[in-house]
Amino acid sequence: MTVLTKTDIPLVDLKAQYRTIRDEVRAAIDDVLESMQLTIGPNVRAFDQEYAAFCGAKHAIGVGSGTDALQLAIRALGIAAGDEVITVSHTFFATVEAILYSGARPILVDVDPKTFNMDFAAAAQAITPRTKAIMPVHLYGRTVDMKPLLALAKEKGLQIIEDACQAHGATLDTGAKAGASGRVSAFSFYCSKNLGAYGEAGSITTNDDALATELRSLREHGQSTRYYHPVIGYNARSTTRRVRAPVAVSSWQAAPYRARSSSFVSVARRSADSFSSSAGSG
Ligand SMILES: Cc1ncc(COP(=O)(O)O)c(C=O)c1O
Repeated sequence: MTVLTKTDIPLVDLKAQYRTIRDEVRAAIDDVLESMQLTIGPNVRAFDQEYAAFCGAKHAIGVGSGTDALQLAIRALGIAAGDEVITVSHTFFATVEAILYSGARPILVDVDPKTFNMDFAAAAQAITPRTKAIMPVHLYGRTVDMKPLLALAKEKGLQIIEDACQAHGATLDTGAKAGASGRVSAFSFYCSKNLGAYGEAGSITTNDDALATELRSLREHGQSTRYYHPVIGYNARSTTRRVRAPVAVSSWQAAPYRARSSSFVSVARRSADSFSSSAGSG
């Protein structure tokens, strides 16, 4: 007779992970409290530099969530009402929500049944004179073929906004990592992501200096220099007052996050090493 037993397997076991890096995380939190660097400061700046280097991008701009990252990227590219942004129907809700916040119209195309990622031909067919950007989503860490998409965007004069919220460290067909090939990319560090923060956080990566400056300004009330606000931006300094299009990554999140990301990198390296040695011996 077969006896069936039921086991609940959690989506992610953050408690188990915490046990392996507890001392580092506690020390990082303690450091934040001792220095009282609670808002954008040395930790956030270090976090931005480390994350940019990890992605192979020139800039990373830490924000409050992946949704914030998408919204600010769309806004910084000047996409607004009357424009169209092509993306996929099979994604997390926030991809489309971010487009809707800008007033632009999301044009949803189907996915390739083999990859669950954007069907290139469908995206090409959906382009109209109103199209401003294509937003591919690297779903479940599996990356979209970027080479044809980048060529299409170049030919048609369109922007590529990579939704890389699920693809930290994934390698693209261009040889670059997710987040380093399009004009701008968005990452989520939602706690259950393969690279997660304690709480909500996200990042925008870009190789474009002017765009990075614009994004840094937008995350801090549109401030260009202290107390000079040429545009209306968002409050980047509070994780609690999060209304409509807020942007917030605090030192509180960045410090323990940095401890977690170094452990993520070493775990990823160990896995890659053991995979290549077992592949070699097999
Ligand atoms: C594909 C995709 N886009 C956007 C988001 C939004 O990220 P966040 O939850 O950090 O706002 C997520 C998060 O689940 C996602 O998976």
